[in-house]
Amino acid sequence: MPTFNDERELSLTAAGQDAVDAYNHTIRGYLCMAPDTGDRMKAIFAADGDMIMAHCLKGYFMMLMAMGGLVPKAQAAAAKAMELAPGATPREALHARAVSHWANRDLDGAARVWEEILLDYPHDILAARLAHFGHFYCGDDRRLRDSVNRILPYWTENMPGYSYLKGMQAFGFEEFGEYTRAQAAAEKAIELEPNDPWATHAYAHVMEMQDRQDEGLAWIERLRPHWTQANNFQNHIWWHEALMMMDQGRMDDVMAQYDAHVFEPDSEEYLDICNATSLLQRLEIMGLDVGGRWAPLADKVRERTEEHILTFVDMHYLLALAAVGDGKAHEMREFLAAYEGDEADSNLPIMKALGVPMADAIIAYRDGRYDDATAAMMPVRYEVWQVGGSHAQRDLFELILIDAAMKGTNAALARGLLAERHAAKPGDHWTEKTYTGLLAA
Ligand SMILES: [Fe+2]
Repeated sequence: MPTFNDERELSLTAAGQDAVDAYNHTIRGYLCMAPDTGDRMKAIFAADGDMIMAHCLKGYFMMLMAMGGLVPKAQAAAAKAMELAPGATPREALHARAVSHWANRDLDGAARVWEEILLDYPHDILAARLAHFGHFYCGDDRRLRDSVNRILPYWTENMPGYSYLKGMQAFGFEEFGEYTRAQAAAEKAIELEPNDPWATHAYAHVMEMQDRQDEGLAWIERLRPHWTQANNFQNHIWWHEALMMMDQGRMDDVMAQYDAHVFEPDSEEYLDICNATSLLQRLEIMGLDVGGRWAPLADKVRERTEEHILTFVDMHYLLALAAVGDGKAHEMREFLAAYEGDEADSNLPIMKALGVPMADAIIAYRDGRYDDATAAMMPVRYEVWQVGGSHAQRDLFELILIDAAMKGTNAALARGLLAERHAAKPGDHWTEKTYTGLLAA
């Protein structure tokens, strides 16, 4: 099989230039989160049904959806990639190995292979972006920060895709708490390519973590014509905008945003469900009546209690079920506890060590057994980062803990938790109000 060069001069095994062009187009779509990325991938298959990187991409895209029903399809794509690996380049063979790890639920193993690829091929932007995703859902902000910084010295600004690396660098710095450098990297990314939802979002995180809501909202507003071209990821930016409104105490606006942009009635996409669940729970903690909004969310996840792809996602699904008092929440907790899975499954130890106690806490919290909720959450609260997601997303579990403590019988715990939050987030509207109220009482 002949080899060609992709946009970044990396060797690609393909039947012809048509397939390579379609591959480049697909990678560009993946990076800017274009809604037609799946169709772009189909065009690679139309040009070359035996292109190893097309099968790798197919497996990756299936796993990126984090849906249990797609895992067998990802496994089939990975098996085909492995079959083609002997006739491929060493880099492509490594991608076949990475997708095989991931399709067999070993995201950690896949991330190790992507990093192995990047040491020898620092221009492999697909490996870089997937590693970024993997480190994000392993929760380790050091890995998230270091992964992209290891390869950036090999890049120059004029190389295709450079701006997306700056967006990833911004998010890595942000999660690590280096907000000044994160902001600068996000600004550079957007200066070079305004249609970068991930960089847009990294900047929103910087503003969220520093309680700079006015600047964050202005940034999101300014870039709205660009990020609203994105796939479902745009709903997550709408979610960030709602979070900033919430931080300003604009609860009616948050509710309107939920209805108009955060809750997506026809979507089965995991991030959409997580966004909606997370926002509804926050609204309730902040004292709002969300009416019948939980029921359609619970309906979406009732048959998804045994997927166990990411503990972070499972906890949101469970929250939606527990919120409507569905017995499925208890059933899901039992599935989590009993699931044996594959030895290679890198989510399994996290699910056992953190998912089960967090599920106990969430169910107890929604059942109104607040002391049980705090008892379940307190021993694991400082380990919750391991379920993955961002600091801003995981803050939900801190809020649940505080709310449970306030509604339970341990007043000293409630006061202590609020005091530490007040120190950590001095500009946070709800914390300020709640802490001041508690002290006055
Ligand atoms: Fe985010």
